[in-house]
Amino acid sequence: MAQQQAKMPQGKIPKGVRLPNQKLEGKTVKRLLSYLLKHKVTIIVVAVCIILSSLTNVASSVFLQLLIDDYITPALGSTNPVLTGMAKLIITMIGIFLVGIVSSYLYMRLMGVMSQKILKEIRDEMFEKMQKLPIKYFDTHSHGDIMSHYTNDADTLRQMLSQSLPQMFSSIITLAAIIITMIITSWQLTLVVAVFLALMLIAVKKVTGKSGKYFMAQQESLGNVNGYIEELINGQKVVKVFNHEEKAKEEFDKKNEELAQNAFKANAFASSLMPMMGNIGYMLYVVLAIVGGVVAVGTGAITLGAIASFLNLSRSFMQPISQVSQQMNMVIMAMAGANRIFTLMDEEPEVNDGYVTLVRAKIDGDKITECKERTGTWAWKHPHGDGTVTYTPMKGEVVMHDVDFSYVPDKPVLHDIDLYAKPGQKIAFVGSTGAGKTTITNLINRFYDIDDGKIRYDGININKINKVDLRHSLGIVLQDVNLFTGTIMENIRYGKLDATDEEVIAAAKLANADGFIQMLPDGYNTMITGDGGSLSQGQKQLISIARAAVANPPVMILDEATSSIDTRTESIVQAGMDSLMKGRTVFVIAHRLSTVKNSDVIMVLEHGRIIERGTHQQLLEQHGKYYQLCTGAFELE
Ligand SMILES: Nc1ncnc2c1ncn2[C@@H]1O[C@H](COP(=O)(O)OP(=O)(O)O)[C@@H](O)[C@H]1O
Ligand SMILES: [Mg+2]
Repeated sequence: MAQQQAKMPQGKIPKGVRLPNQKLEGKTVKRLLSYLLKHKVTIIVVAVCIILSSLTNVASSVFLQLLIDDYITPALGSTNPVLTGMAKLIITMIGIFLVGIVSSYLYMRLMGVMSQKILKEIRDEMFEKMQKLPIKYFDTHSHGDIMSHYTNDADTLRQMLSQSLPQMFSSIITLAAIIITMIITSWQLTLVVAVFLALMLIAVKKVTGKSGKYFMAQQESLGNVNGYIEELINGQKVVKVFNHEEKAKEEFDKKNEELAQNAFKANAFASSLMPMMGNIGYMLYVVLAIVGGVVAVGTGAITLGAIASFLNLSRSFMQPISQVSQQMNMVIMAMAGANRIFTLMDEEPEVNDGYVTLVRAKIDGDKITECKERTGTWAWKHPHGDGTVTYTPMKGEVVMHDVDFSYVPDKPVLHDIDLYAKPGQKIAFVGSTGAGKTTITNLINRFYDIDDGKIRYDGININKINKVDLRHSLGIVLQDVNLFTGTIMENIRYGKLDATDEEVIAAAKLANADGFIQMLPDGYNTMITGDGGSLSQGQKQLISIARAAVANPPVMILDEATSSIDTRTESIVQAGMDSLMKGRTVFVIAHRLSTVKNSDVIMVLEHGRIIERGTHQQLLEQHGKYYQLCTGAFELE
């Protein structure tokens, strides 16, 4: 397969290789410059050092000419040559070289430090941005691909900043100095060089132009490969259980192949450059020697030293050119990475334009006043267009009216959802998997915005409520439990960062998690790593219930919160849950009907519609779907 590709004609896009349609834009360059310009002083010092070190390079050729024409040639004819002048010249040369070495060391160091600083800033910005992205972004981008913005893309950028840019700058300065020296030494020979230079520039442009899009494609495929690896690491157990190793490898091979093809293409262009440059360089050398010889012999306009120095210059002339063209590839690759980084930074953030905020309040009869101290009472502060501000006590009333919703446009998931949850009520959702239960709760906390209809929270349209405050007032136990690296104590405290140890333990007791936590060797200080791999699913659920409980919110959403807990433990948890739910509006989603039986309202969902609603008793009397569920005539899933 690899051999087949090697034979593929260059410039033709191999089948199955997706080329990204973004172009390398001046915008990306400008934006990168804005990061560099924050380090103006460093850049000036670096530029001076680069110029110094480049000039010392060129100086050696000039000194060669001086050495030959002023000292060696006269000394050849003389029987008693004076060597003091020559010694002085050589000492000066050593001094110049020392300056060159010190300045190269200095600029490389400075650039290294500066590029790390810029990278840190970029990573910070990316992470901050990532925290602001809507849930939708993570629905549509693989985690590995997002990760590779921080790893591969950032790394190519670092390499460019710390290596390619200074090298290119140094090459260009060297080149300029060489060209000037050439013109001074001999304009005739410079003309010859100019012709070759034009030839080379055409070649470089052709090559780098072609490889650019492949470097972009290479970065993209790298993201794909990373995404796949990440997915497979997470699903390693599933892969093994279903003996999918072969299939997984096949799929990986495909993605890896695409990456290899793009990398191959990109580098095929790039690596054809070096030998090409080398050959042109040799030709130039020969042509210069011939032309120089003819001019020297024919007109005497050029000295021997000038020709030697010129030949030397032409050697050092080739080096910066091939360096620039080589670094060009690095730059293009880094630009592709930068482009991806900036695309992430430019993603639409989750809008949070809600102006109704949550404030601590004192309630005195009908009068609500805002206050700074902790009162345990909260109110919604609602500024109006006419400058007045009203306060509404936070009670935890949730009303949905004719709500329609779709994750993907034109594929509705929820239809005409109506619900009325009075403060302190327990509302249950039952229905088969995929009926839309989780989706309803996603709308209450505004992970997603509805297409049509209204959701009111304490009588306020939730679109007007500041999202941070809205989520602050909701305690949510998500269907998928996520624990973070840290102790159990810290994981529970995630629900309320300023909770004391006592509050955390009280919440754990309420959720009935205290029992098993005490049994762990380190108790509450047990470290959790890798999403709590060493805990059972049920234990993880108990921790996440405690996490929601510690915040003491007026509204709780429990999405299958007890699904992995055995029935016996559940009846214990149930007791805790009942006290947890007391005085709060609670939305419960549960498979076990025993959990939902005592709810104030049970809603039966099917294909995104509420088909039945009522209390356990009422629904049983209806002899509908719920009745079937209870009598076992129909089972969930
Ligand atoms: N992020 C998403 N993007 C697109 N469709 C989704 C997403 N999440 C859920 N769905 C779809 O919405 C429907 C309802 O899902 P969900 O509310 O999770 O069901 P339930 O919680 O009742 O099992 C399902 O058909 C599911 O495929
Ligand atoms: Mg669900």
